Amino acid sequence: MKRIRKAIFPVAGLGTRFLPATKATPKEMLPIVDKPLIQFAVEEAIEAGLTDMIFVTGRTKRAIEDHFDKAYELETELAAKNKHDLLELVQSVLPRGIKCVYIRQAEPLGLGHAVGCARDVVDDEPFAVILADDLIDGRPGALKQMVDCAHRHNGSVLGVEDVPRERTRQYGIVSTTPVADRTERVSAIIEKPAPAEAPSTLAVVGRYILSPRIFDLIEHVVPGAGGEIQLTDAISALLDEEPVFAHRFAGTRYDCGSKLGYLKAAVDLGRKHHEIGAEFDAFLKELPK
Ligand code: UTP
Repeated sequence: MKRIRKAIFPVAGLGTRFLPATKATPKEMLPIVDKPLIQFAVEEAIEAGLTDMIFVTGRTKRAIEDHFDKAYELETELAAKNKHDLLELVQSVLPRGIKCVYIRQAEPLGLGHAVGCARDVVDDEPFAVILADDLIDGRPGALKQMVDCAHRHNGSVLGVEDVPRERTRQYGIVSTTPVADRTERVSAIIEKPAPAEAPSTLAVVGRYILSPRIFDLIEHVVPGAGGEIQLTDAISALLDEEPVFAHRFAGTRYDCGSKLGYLKAAVDLGRKHHEIGAEFDAFLKELPK
């Protein structure tokens, strides 16, 4: 398999579960303590060796572009005030050698459609897709684990974890056969099955490494309810042509697209925070039961 260099970040969803916070700001800019979700995702991609960050944006795109852009006024101000630590922090948001590209998805027609919008930029190489609202705390990061898996097994890789059976309706669910430690070969994938119909409880969460063949297949996906073009349907077609693996990454996933998951991430990562972690932990322990 060719080297994986490019990551697509679909950030054009409506984020309705977080309204009104997401009325004018993408949900991927919601912070966990002091870092926006999208920055966690970009750092995970960089750790995995990727260099080209492709954002598929929607109507509230400005905040993300600004976040990864150079902030001249702020940097000049911090330098003038000798705030070197903060200056370094601001400049390290996007390390040297990392490229950002922004593509507009005119209408939120589904995850498959969002990925398809990046076709011309990705071209003929395998690539990653990261949904920043699935925050994964892993060492090494989940994407690094998946990139290693893709190279070892020479195929596309889906990041998966077991979910409670009553939740299968929220995910793409896979049928698999074991291949190696944490890695299984995918034989079928179905989008949001009812618990009784789910072939397993192994759910695809927001990490994918995909072969460029997927772009042709996305074009043939028939839109489902609400006109959405599902990535799952294109992956299902890919299974007939190429090997696709499911990798049970090591790490904790937080569904930050939901209020409860977001709060759990804020509490867990808040307790580990280098500045305020110890104090926050003491505060939580003192809370009345
Ligand atoms: P979600 O299913 O979480 O949808 O999208 P959403 O609109 O963002 O959030 P809710 O459900 O209304 O609260 C999964 C991911 O796919 C992206 C979203 O930005 C999110 O990262 N997405 C979804 C797109 O970029 N375009 C789409 O057309 C749909």
